[in-house]
Amino acid sequence: MPGPQLGSHRLANALFVAPMAGVTDRPFRQLCRRMGAGYAVSEMVTSRKDLWNSLKTSRRANHEGEQGPIAVQIAGTDAPMMAEAAAYNIARGAQIIDINMGCPAKKVCSKWAGSALMQDEPLALQIVSAVVEAAAPHGVPVTLKMRTGWCESEKNAVKLALGAQAAGVAMVTVHGRTREQGYKGQAEYDTIRAVKAALQIPVVANGDIDSPEKAREVLAHTGADAIMIGRAAQGRPWIFREIAHYLSTGQTLPAPTVVEASDWLVEHLQEHYTLYGSLTGMRTARKHIGWAVRDLPGGEEFRQAMNLLESCEAQISALRQWFARMAGDYERLPYLAKPQGEPTMAGSDADDEHAMTMNANQQKELRPLA
Ligand SMILES: Cc1cc2nc3c(=O)[nH]c(=O)nc-3n(C[C@H](O)[C@H](O)[C@H](O)COP(=O)(O)O)c2cc1C
Repeated sequence: MPGPQLGSHRLANALFVAPMAGVTDRPFRQLCRRMGAGYAVSEMVTSRKDLWNSLKTSRRANHEGEQGPIAVQIAGTDAPMMAEAAAYNIARGAQIIDINMGCPAKKVCSKWAGSALMQDEPLALQIVSAVVEAAAPHGVPVTLKMRTGWCESEKNAVKLALGAQAAGVAMVTVHGRTREQGYKGQAEYDTIRAVKAALQIPVVANGDIDSPEKAREVLAHTGADAIMIGRAAQGRPWIFREIAHYLSTGQTLPAPTVVEASDWLVEHLQEHYTLYGSLTGMRTARKHIGWAVRDLPGGEEFRQAMNLLESCEAQISALRQWFARMAGDYERLPYLAKPQGEPTMAGSDADDEHAMTMNANQQKELRPLA
């Protein structure tokens, strides 16, 4: 499925990785692209100038060797500051600017940013216009990511999306939940369909897409130009090639072989350690390893044991051994049936804007030790 055209950029295909703070860093984006994702938006970079030089922000803004177009997401509450943040990121290589109006967390919402902005349409559109005005002279398209609305009785996605289109936005992504829902309940796709029907610009459907079958259903139901996948790609980035294969052939692609998955994971971890340095890298790699093994036999025991390891070398060697043993019994990843339940929010660093939605154990596990 061809990707939408954004300004002078034709996106490689219609399967996008969702921006996930603490997850979609450059190594993870590159892995997802290698596995078939056509587009990856980088993590939110704050519009607060005082944080632009922080290590965290500069890691987030690291696009070395990344396949274009480079898309950077910004979030904030003040139109001139957002315009400045757009200009700053464009000067540092951003080719597309994405505005975050889809993030439900308190730390962001209390500052009137993220999805909280959906409640104040005039301010939201003021921000959109200011960012478009800052980006347009550079030929940089601006996109918008939002939810279906503030709460069940105030689903204003269509109105806001129409306003954003009129202000010059090039593409809108809708996560099929309200801000009030957080990550609870099920995503709904009727509102996304309504947004698609109302707009001339490309619309991206997002929320709870976790299999090739679901991808096809959501595309058919919404008529969206593309789909965006977040949590289902954690530890399973090959979902993109599985979806691509299914959409083009109607056939299910077999799971990767144990050997290839092990090699991909090790390569990903090496990139991860290089970006973060060995101490931070070793700690933040744990979540990626945990996701990669979670639906495999013995995965939970391995995750617990691996969390006690204190060096990158030990992680790599444990992982290789674990997969090598599995390769003795299985050719392909032997995924266990998924337990039914609500999708989890795990993934974010404890200090980022999503930590509030994690349960106590997840927070403890992800808390930086330094
Ligand atoms: C750990 C985590 C971090 C996220 N960070 C961001 C973010 O920085 N910006 C954003 O627009 N959405 C963020 N989201 C929301 C996702 O982009 C996506 O809209 C949401 O997870 C629903 O898609 P999914 O069901 O495929 O995961 C985050 C989600 C998760 C799970």
